[in-house]
Amino acid sequence: METVVSGIRSTGKLHLGNYYGALNNFVKMQEQYNCFFFIADLHSLTTHPTPNNLQETVRNVLVEYLAAGLDPEKSTIYVQSDLPEVAELYLYMNMNAYLGELERATSFKDKVRANPDNVNAGLLTYPVLMACDILIHHATKVPVGKDQEQHLEMTRTFGNRFNRMYNVDYFKESFAFNFSNELVKIPGLDGKGKMGKSEGEMNAVYLSDSPETIRKKVMKAVTDGGPTEENQQKPQEIQNLFDLMKLVSTADTLAHFENLYNTCAIRYGDFKKQLAEDMVISTTPIREKITAISADNDYLRKVAKLGADKAHESASKTLKDVREIIGFKSF
Ligand code: TYM
Repeated sequence: METVVSGIRSTGKLHLGNYYGALNNFVKMQEQYNCFFFIADLHSLTTHPTPNNLQETVRNVLVEYLAAGLDPEKSTIYVQSDLPEVAELYLYMNMNAYLGELERATSFKDKVRANPDNVNAGLLTYPVLMACDILIHHATKVPVGKDQEQHLEMTRTFGNRFNRMYNVDYFKESFAFNFSNELVKIPGLDGKGKMGKSEGEMNAVYLSDSPETIRKKVMKAVTDGGPTEENQQKPQEIQNLFDLMKLVSTADTLAHFENLYNTCAIRYGDFKKQLAEDMVISTTPIREKITAISADNDYLRKVAKLGADKAHESASKTLKDVREIIGFKSF
């Protein structure tokens, strides 16, 4: 059975981008693969969270994983920092990751541009740690959004380089995965780029948002003056809303509004109202479970412990092999 690994950083509440880009695929994959899903708390250290904030966000992602349908009986669900093996592998893999390739990573360049005062080494070697998350369990499929594609390429580079360096056929190649066969970039509500945590509170719809909040955000989404010609191409901000509708609404609803747009009869107020209602319908079961699961500390503790034990079993085997391959021998 193929092995699957993926994670989400503990940097806040999860939004529809995380859900449709990653989490929704995690839930489906656990039915047919050997799955490891973790909370990437080590990766979140690049932005220096306070201890309280770190704990709260880790807990939050765990709650939202479970609320979205991850099942600790089917998947190994763990917190990345509960697996010290990954930090050890990261040390070894850092020896074969080169400054030039790390500096060329798009995510690194974006982070440097966004926050030039915090260009720490952890940020630079972020893709190495991510590669270790994947390699440590010998995963071949990694469900992620489009923005992570380059990190998967780098993972293959690092794994292959290790194999070549030690003349072994040890690490497997892994590929980014989405059930639709195409990696997705879920747009936000600001009419510009992707939905994200750092693009402003109003740009993202969170799984935990109340129906009122969702309605307010969607009604404020950027639109234009409306189509002036039949079948005209949609501007970015309108296409984004249609892309969101495709995720949460039925095919009939989508076709109805497409038709209204193409005949210049669309009223954006009605369109957004429908979009908001369908977002509410699709997130309500998750939101309700978030509230219930969040209250159950014992359960959360049990899930994290079970996951850490299972992940440790898999990771410790890899570390034993890797130490031997590198040449650390006991006398
Ligand atoms: P993070 O926390 O930024 O995002 C978690 C997942 O959500 C996806 N995502 C999106 N997908 C589509 N459209 C969007 N607007 C959108 N926003 C977020 C991301 O692509 C990602 O899949 N580096 C990873 C965490 C990580 C990881 C790993 C993932 C660490 N180690 C090993 C896979 C395997 C990250 O920053 O995720």
